[in-house]
Amino acid sequence: MNANTHISSKHAQVWLAALLTCGLSAPVHADEGDQPLGLASSVTLPPQAKGSPPAWAGKAFRQGVVSVANPYAAEAGAKILEQGGNAVDAAVAIAYALNVVEPQSAGIGGGGFMMIHMARPGQTVIIDSREEAPAGATPDMFVGQNFARRSLQGVAVGVPGMVRGTEKALKDYGRLSLSQVLQPAIALADDGFAATPRFVSSTACSSATSRAKNSPLAAEYFCPGGDFRAVGSLVTNKPLAQTFRQIADHGADCFYKVIPEKGCDIAKGIIEGQQYNQPNLTPIGKGGSMQLSDLEQYQAKLRTPIEGSYRGYRIKSMPPPSSGALTVLQILKMLERFPLGDASQGYGFGTPKTANVMAESMRIAFADRAVWMGDADFVPVPSKGLLANDYIKLRSDLITPGARLNPNPTADDPRPYETAGLMPATRLAVADPPISMENGTTHFSVVDKWGNVVSYTNTIESGYGIGVFAGYKQADGSFKNHGFLLNNELTDFNTTPTTNPFYDPAVPGFNDVQPGKRPRSSMSPSMMFNRDGSPLLAYGSPGGATIINSVVNVTINLVDHGMTLQQAIDAPRLSVASANASIAVDPWFPAATVDALRAQPLLYTVGLSDIGSVQAVYIDPKTGKQFGAADPRREGTVIGLPRSQSR
Ligand code: GLY
Repeated sequence: MNANTHISSKHAQVWLAALLTCGLSAPVHADEGDQPLGLASSVTLPPQAKGSPPAWAGKAFRQGVVSVANPYAAEAGAKILEQGGNAVDAAVAIAYALNVVEPQSAGIGGGGFMMIHMARPGQTVIIDSREEAPAGATPDMFVGQNFARRSLQGVAVGVPGMVRGTEKALKDYGRLSLSQVLQPAIALADDGFAATPRFVSSTACSSATSRAKNSPLAAEYFCPGGDFRAVGSLVTNKPLAQTFRQIADHGADCFYKVIPEKGCDIAKGIIEGQQYNQPNLTPIGKGGSMQLSDLEQYQAKLRTPIEGSYRGYRIKSMPPPSSGALTVLQILKMLERFPLGDASQGYGFGTPKTANVMAESMRIAFADRAVWMGDADFVPVPSKGLLANDYIKLRSDLITPGARLNPNPTADDPRPYETAGLMPATRLAVADPPISMENGTTHFSVVDKWGNVVSYTNTIESGYGIGVFAGYKQADGSFKNHGFLLNNELTDFNTTPTTNPFYDPAVPGFNDVQPGKRPRSSMSPSMMFNRDGSPLLAYGSPGGATIINSVVNVTINLVDHGMTLQQAIDAPRLSVASANASIAVDPWFPAATVDALRAQPLLYTVGLSDIGSVQAVYIDPKTGKQFGAADPRREGTVIGLPRSQSR
């Protein structure tokens, strides 16, 4: 598949036939030419236990590159770049297009973090459009509701942020209007697209517990007649096209406010949708408490990225309310003292020694994350202390190659490294709840011809969110469907109220529910920078708490193992997303290493599952050439411009 192939909704059937002939199991790569170098050069990817790394040669561009988890949405972004839009315009176009073609992962019913680097004046910011707890939310609102329950009901819905966030992005950093950049998404929703294999398989229509079937309307859309849609069949979403038109015509206010004279009624559909409960449950399910006032007051927030370094490479990533930057950088900094790239010392890619120290640093960082990270607008996250050199040394010193921390690591107290005079109190052993991998969340990256870069992770949390479309019953009894799924982001809060035992008297857990608070995220849109401050790489991933580890794996693959960008993404990943001794690895992780991790003396529990979906763009610092690489774990697509040319 040539990534330069033009894909329009009119040609969707033809495109899909070609796509299926070529196979979607392989990533859709640019086809030949220059290889973006790995950041080190001496180590090559060893043969993997199952298969070998896909051959890849990246094609170089100069007029912009998009790397997206879906080919139609990539096309939407490329089109906007061709129309004179910059990376921010393209990113907004992609985000709305993904709502149509990857609705299980993200959309206007959710929120995200858009990291933007503007080449002039050389500034990096993040627009935080994270969902927010409504004023009526309470710390105990999830008590007694297991994940299967709370994640499929209105109580889990946070005030959606994407529309305010994208409006702010365009206003402050874009070149085009909301109405212009929404056109590709409107066309996709109206004219339709050919169902991709992932669009179909994600629905799990044959399963009684399919999230896509949680409400009658969603069930009929994703599994018409109770069955899977055919791959390649035309999918339209006319109600969503109409919703997008309302936003295009009247701006974000038309999403957040009921304005009858302009026909703006989307907010009504959000309020009624989030009242959804599961009436057949005992005790009866729980709707949400969101009011129109919660929607009206929602604001996207401008954040400054947290900056750190790994072996000299400057990395910026997402601050609170995400745990992304703090945990990614803690893990990397703890690992800096180990020569991960040096096979002569038993390290190197995928060896038991490398896997062991990576797993231990993840466990230690996640123990801190569970206690110290949350929405810093509400709780005093010790961001400096968590990354202070002395604190990192204290934590890294817990790691002994060839051993496993037993009992599980606990949080320590970073506050003395941030603020003098505080004494550590009792430590707490904390394990996060099991993480649902599923289909929620998506990441894409964009660079434009001016050198502006976007790294954007967007989400409705679990696959299909609560599995309910926004919509409401009209006066005549008919149902007005707005065509987008509502998030279940509030499940990222602690389920049960906790306390932080480092405080005496104890204070509420940093990630407990509070009205107006944003739930702790793991989303880590990231960028790596050259010494002169110009961007080198934009990357990120979906995957719940495993997002953090996907970013860590790709960073190490580039810096320590000298892989090309595509190899770094394709290579099997290792993830530990709590203080527990349970490791997840991609199924093609070296089998001998998996055996060694399970055996004496380490005795880890190791499970196999796909981890993350990384989409990245890279700018060669010497030549300025632009490259993209996308993940075969989803339907990753790179389109570079101009389409006719490379190098
Ligand atoms: N929705 C994934 C996260 O925020 O971590």
